[in-house]
Amino acid sequence: MKLTILGGGGFRVPLVYGALLTDRGEGRVTEVVLHDLDDSRLYAVARVLAEQAATVPDAPTVTATTDLDEALRGADFVFSAIRVGGLEGRANDERVALAEGVLGQETVGAGGIAYGLRTVPVAVDIAQRVARLAPDAWVINFTNPAGLVTEAMSRHLGGRVIGICDSPVGLGRRIAKVLGANPREAFIDYVGLNHLGWVRGLRVAGRDELPRLLADPDLLGSFEEGKLFGTDWLQSLGAIPNEYLHYYYFNRETVRAYSEVERTRGAFLRDQQAQFYDEMKHPDTAALTAWDRTRAEREATYMSENRETAGAGERDADDLSGGYEKVALALMRAIARDERTTLILNVRNQGALSVLDADAVIEVPCLVDANGAHPVAVAPLPDHATGLVCAVKGVEREVLAAAESGSRTTAVKAFALHPLVDSVNVARRLVEGYTEVHPGLAYLK
Ligand code: G6P
Ligand code: MN
Repeated sequence: MKLTILGGGGFRVPLVYGALLTDRGEGRVTEVVLHDLDDSRLYAVARVLAEQAATVPDAPTVTATTDLDEALRGADFVFSAIRVGGLEGRANDERVALAEGVLGQETVGAGGIAYGLRTVPVAVDIAQRVARLAPDAWVINFTNPAGLVTEAMSRHLGGRVIGICDSPVGLGRRIAKVLGANPREAFIDYVGLNHLGWVRGLRVAGRDELPRLLADPDLLGSFEEGKLFGTDWLQSLGAIPNEYLHYYYFNRETVRAYSEVERTRGAFLRDQQAQFYDEMKHPDTAALTAWDRTRAEREATYMSENRETAGAGERDADDLSGGYEKVALALMRAIARDERTTLILNVRNQGALSVLDADAVIEVPCLVDANGAHPVAVAPLPDHATGLVCAVKGVEREVLAAAESGSRTTAVKAFALHPLVDSVNVARRLVEGYTEVHPGLAYLK
């Protein structure tokens, strides 16, 4: 079985390959093709993978190419994990928004819109190529903003593209742990959009255990979301929000914290990652050790500004291992081997959230089998959450329309309608600022 990884020179590729190495079962991936635009990044990552595979018999073969069509032909699965504009682009997404006093973040608010506007045309091109060259392949989309990008690709690939994110999985795992439940036996009642969802229940053998957590301030305060949002606010909500909702519920504080830091997250990662890829140019560098050290630092500092504003302290050691590669592997196994399972994924709504149309991509628990991912029925969201979800989906639709038409006016509308952009004039200046710094937005006229 052949797996093609787009963004194959990306830093998180060794996590995926590491997960593949643990899979000894029949029908596992035997061939990995890395695709990237940048040869030196491919070389760096291939070195790390070679060291990972060194002690594993029958490790999947790894080849690398800069030819997209060649990479796609014959693929059974395609992982798409690209970053249009690189980390320099991410740093610019943050900087331009913060200069206007609004949130600049990889996936949320103005920063997420800018990132979406330059990523959607590239993702659509990939989807069209997959439909032509590998029509039976399943595409697993990691590329952010993951919900929006998955929806763009689904217009060409239907249910054959599935978006994934590790944050709902991590959230479910943390809640299960504080409740003393086995995450594998618990059903997490979660729904929303990517980076905009809420856990409303956690059922073990049909019994909802979440009320027990919400009633206990000590338990509530003992894990990441409790520390970030505060126990009072979680009790008021009666639900546990995805960590990215911190940017909405504590917008003023997060914008201030982001404005005051010496280097934003994107700028920090731009420098940190550049150093790693530089180190990898020296043939003597111990590749896996250098990668692992860089990864540990990246994970330890994830969302550190948010945690600081909330006085949440360091991340829990258990939260440092991500889990994104595990979701990808579980999804691939469920499809390839018909191993039925339930996973929280980004798929077309098909009636699961009745306030959105059938083609809107949402983040929801899905039953997965050889026929793909099917959203399960979930309870409706409360009014305030419905409002946010509809407003942000409306913004995503404007981004998709702007990417299709190349209309600058539609791009302004996308920014202006976002709940975290507080004036149409700000939206106009954001489009000015972003088109000045991003070559990938030159199509907006
Ligand atoms: C989480 C999110 C991803 C996001 C990542 C950013 O894992 O679910 O969508 O890309 O955080 O982490 P970073 O280290 O790049 O700030
Ligand atoms: Mn994510």
